[in-house]
Amino acid sequence: MNFLIINGPNLNLLGKREPEIYGNTSFDDFFAALQAQYPQHTFRHIQSNHEGILIDTLHEYGFSAAGIVLNAGAYTHTSIAIADAIRSITSPVIEVHISNVFGREAFRHHSMLSEACKGVIAGLGFDSYRLAIEALIEMNTNR
Ligand code: DQA
Repeated sequence: MNFLIINGPNLNLLGKREPEIYGNTSFDDFFAALQAQYPQHTFRHIQSNHEGILIDTLHEYGFSAAGIVLNAGAYTHTSIAIADAIRSITSPVIEVHISNVFGREAFRHHSMLSEACKGVIAGLGFDSYRLAIEALIEMNTNR
């Protein structure tokens, strides 16, 4: 199965950015480990700091990917346009967050995207992404 992981703004700095919240591991290191763990599946990773590119990416892969794992970063809390893009495509999308957004500032408690997604996983570090992949594999297997 082909899966796409989309990371939004500031997530290119994982490993360097606020390590007390987001950890010391770069996304590339996690991504290599994920690929090694699921050799039977294909993973693509796209990161952008730009809302429009995140939307273009959802459009481009959202009719062919077996599933999409989306960490939209701060756009999670603001973007009606990304929510509409998720509603416009056919691939299932799971929203993920590295940190437990519900244990942080109040403005992080609301997501514009959750309603459009199949599910939400937050607070488990990089394992949030892996568990989302597990759920997407399950969804595709039981289709
Ligand atoms: C985040 C949580 C968001 O509130 C924040 O803006 C991020 C990262 C997370 O993965 O924990 O950039 O999505």
